[in-house]
Amino acid sequence: MWDRLWTGARLATMEKGGAPYGMVEKGAVGVENGRIVYCGEEADLPGRPDGLAREIHCLDGRWITPGLIDCHTHLVYGGDRAGEFEMRLEGASYEELLKAGGGILSTVRATRDASLDSLVASALPRLDALLAEGVTTVEVKSGYGLNVATETKMLRAARRLGKLRPVSVVTTFLGAHALPPEFKDDADAYIDLMCDEALPAVAGEGLADAVDVFCEKIAFNLEQTERVFRAAQAAGLPVKLHAEQLSDMGGAALAARYGALSCDHLEFLSGEGAAAMAKAGTVAVMLPGAFYFLRDTNVPPIAMLREAGVAMAVSTDCNPGSSPATSLLLMLNMAATLFRMTPEEALAGVTREAARALGVKQDRGTLKQGKAADLAIWDIERPAELSYRIGFNPLYCAVKDGELVERSR
Ligand code: NIG
Ligand code: FE
Repeated sequence: MWDRLWTGARLATMEKGGAPYGMVEKGAVGVENGRIVYCGEEADLPGRPDGLAREIHCLDGRWITPGLIDCHTHLVYGGDRAGEFEMRLEGASYEELLKAGGGILSTVRATRDASLDSLVASALPRLDALLAEGVTTVEVKSGYGLNVATETKMLRAARRLGKLRPVSVVTTFLGAHALPPEFKDDADAYIDLMCDEALPAVAGEGLADAVDVFCEKIAFNLEQTERVFRAAQAAGLPVKLHAEQLSDMGGAALAARYGALSCDHLEFLSGEGAAAMAKAGTVAVMLPGAFYFLRDTNVPPIAMLREAGVAMAVSTDCNPGSSPATSLLLMLNMAATLFRMTPEEALAGVTREAARALGVKQDRGTLKQGKAADLAIWDIERPAELSYRIGFNPLYCAVKDGELVERSR
């Protein structure tokens, strides 16, 4: 007997190659031991529902999608940057604030001062907001510690979040996020510290699933980025990159050479960068929240990425400075309205392609027999509603590893 079976469902399996959204009009999903054991036409079930599963839920036509995946967040941090937001509204730029010791560096001070417990406590409401919209996997980066002790503290906090809530947490080491004041004028020495001490420590303790760098004029150059990538490779960790957000540094092509899982932001991506990503199978992660909140005007080259055959993911980039966003559904709307992604591309961006950006596509991201039973069940008439509405949450319930998720708010 299966553990649970949902009948009377419309499925957006998000499997490629068939109907739009991988749609099944009269579908059913069965789960056992946390995995999907059946996903398809209800009429093709191998028996009567009550003979197949211990628990049966009839969904009266509600939609099931894969559980949502937020594949780029800085969810763990101390303090907030509402004061900086006010300064930006009065004319200060994001770059100026960082150069003056504010921006990311003000969050670094607050994060260094915070205990592990308080980092977890302050991240939980943000995580709960994501979960309330059907998120079942979330990536969390370090990068507000910029020393060995605080970077590891952040990653421990991230791992703990995954124990406190029904969500898979994928962690990313982002030691090369900004240059801390102790290393002012010596970025190379800071990169040495990250490569020789921080990264091996983090990898040794199994605290990171991937390694990221902020490659930008106000952060780290190509050569420094490549040094971190080599250290990641030596530690057996895949890489990803904050690339071409504020200028075209050529970071995407470099990341592609290292087989990066993803390049994220990409407002200034060149044609060569897109071609290199396509060749390497690197996912483009679109972060419309940061684009909107920094009042960017350079839209990432969606048509070019589409044409080059680069897979596109969509994420909140939840962070205190450039995207204080905890709604992945709002990002779907922004991906469609601001970036002109189709609603189907946007939904694939928070399911199938987000799983690929995290290196977990074998296990998650689509509704398929054998994959983890992570589901989002929606009170909607058609999948496009997920990107159509603004500020409305049609989640009926979420399922994590086959278990019904209780709402925590
Ligand atoms: O993804 N681009 C760099 N990092 C973050 C912003 C971090 C911050 O401002 O605190 C981002 O936008
Ligand atoms: Fe980011």
